[in-house]
Amino acid sequence: MVLTHPSKTAFGDFQTPLNLAREVCALVAQSGFDPASILEPTCGIGAFLQAALETFPHVRRILGLEINPHYVSKAQEVCLSIASQTRVEIHQADFFLTDWPAIMATLPEPILVIGNPPWVTNSALSALGSANTPVKANLDNLRGIDALTGKSNFDISEWMLRKNLEWLDGKHGMLAVLCKTAVARKVLAYAWQHRMRIASASLYRFDSRAHFGVAVDACLLLIHSHPAGNSQQCAVFSTLQARYPASVFGWQDGVMVADLSLYQKWRSLFGTGLKGWRSGIKHDSSQLFELRIEHGKLINGLGEVVDLEPDVLFPLLKSSDLAAHRQPRLWMVVPQRTMSDDPIRLQIDAPKTWHYLNKHAHLLAKRKSSIYKNRPRFAIFGVGSYSFAPWKIAISGLYKKLEFVKVPPYQGRPVVFDDTCYFFPCESEAECDLLYELVMSDPAQEFWSALIFWDAKRPITAQSLNSLNLLALAQILGKTNDTARALAERQVVEYTVGNYQRPLL
Ligand SMILES: C[S@@+](CC[C@H](N)C(=O)[O-])C[C@H]1O[C@@H](n2cnc3c(N)ncnc32)[C@H](O)[C@@H]1O
Repeated sequence: MVLTHPSKTAFGDFQTPLNLAREVCALVAQSGFDPASILEPTCGIGAFLQAALETFPHVRRILGLEINPHYVSKAQEVCLSIASQTRVEIHQADFFLTDWPAIMATLPEPILVIGNPPWVTNSALSALGSANTPVKANLDNLRGIDALTGKSNFDISEWMLRKNLEWLDGKHGMLAVLCKTAVARKVLAYAWQHRMRIASASLYRFDSRAHFGVAVDACLLLIHSHPAGNSQQCAVFSTLQARYPASVFGWQDGVMVADLSLYQKWRSLFGTGLKGWRSGIKHDSSQLFELRIEHGKLINGLGEVVDLEPDVLFPLLKSSDLAAHRQPRLWMVVPQRTMSDDPIRLQIDAPKTWHYLNKHAHLLAKRKSSIYKNRPRFAIFGVGSYSFAPWKIAISGLYKKLEFVKVPPYQGRPVVFDDTCYFFPCESEAECDLLYELVMSDPAQEFWSALIFWDAKRPITAQSLNSLNLLALAQILGKTNDTARALAERQVVEYTVGNYQRPLL
């Protein structure tokens, strides 16, 4: 890990080496794109401006903006030694305070927007107390749980790249930028969702450690905009030198598809609006909610012996347990049965548990995630009848393989999961056996492989799991029976079998 100065971090300041900037410009030229003007919105010391001037000597106008005045002077020095002041302009400016439409109106087409926007997230910035963020920092006006649980944590570069594409939409232009691969995909998803006029897109992976000394999954993103563009695909090249794409991802049926050709094969399995797969329970205090057993006694993460009503305790599996096919080693305190349940009922239903949570109320009040704000005291998330289904098929969201696990009840109790896992509730062993057969079948595995981006931090998502229509799958496999229909029904109507509903005691 490379330690960096806080202000360098706040400004996502990783200057592109000149040789890399030259390689990028060469790829742009190879694609046949010949710009009349070039814009670098956060130009740093000017490596891209220099490389672009060398590669496109006849360009009519080059404009570079940058927040750091020292960098502006350096970039001016370099560029003015190559081209005249009438063609090259470099100014100090803050991206977030610049009148971009006015600037774009002065640039002749085709326009090349090139560069390497800051590598920093808005939450890293707020931790630094930095103001280097857009005025309206909530990207998609995210609401509710998404905004609260972290989807609102976005890269500053994502916001900037969205703007770059908005400026180019309907114009003849090209965006050529270095960014995180995950950011590139999000920006493309945004453009495709908003039907921006894109003629073609390609993504070239490169070794960020070799060029920048930081281990980030980074790429060069090339997007060619054109007034008549209507492409929703992106070719992926394994290196900057690769001549043929390794795969093509794109926007299809309203979702991002990692491998378009594989997806075509199993497209009939795609279902919209389906549910059934759930994530495990989120509580943000393993110290208090996760108990181990030592010499027949329950011990919490503080090392205290704990005495609680058995009905609030459920055997727990985590991602690592699923991966190792282990039996539960911990027990989770589950103080609610549904999301609308208030743990205050424990006062009557389970007084020892109520006392335990109260005794540690100060620790629970410190739970960081803002999802707990305006919720009853001691509340946890991701609980419903489905959590208490006796049998389950589960999978870890962290692992990079589609390996499902059959989970039977343990010591007569339904097993619960932490929030890194996904599961599908089953009422019986027969349901669990059939579902296992369905999800491990080749069609299911190929269908999900087509949707999943394995290099993502958390590749398997509830959304990808839920887009497989179990009834269509059972039909393809010749397994359509009452059990299959019951499972498929659960994708449309929430699981409400209430064996473990209140009253508990
Ligand atoms: C990753 S560096 C890349 C610099 C240059 N584009 C290159 O490729 O070498 C990001 C640059 O963005 C600049 N920057 C950060 N925040 C900015 C802002 N709000 N407005 C303009 N430039 C900014 C930083 O000073 C830094 O030079």
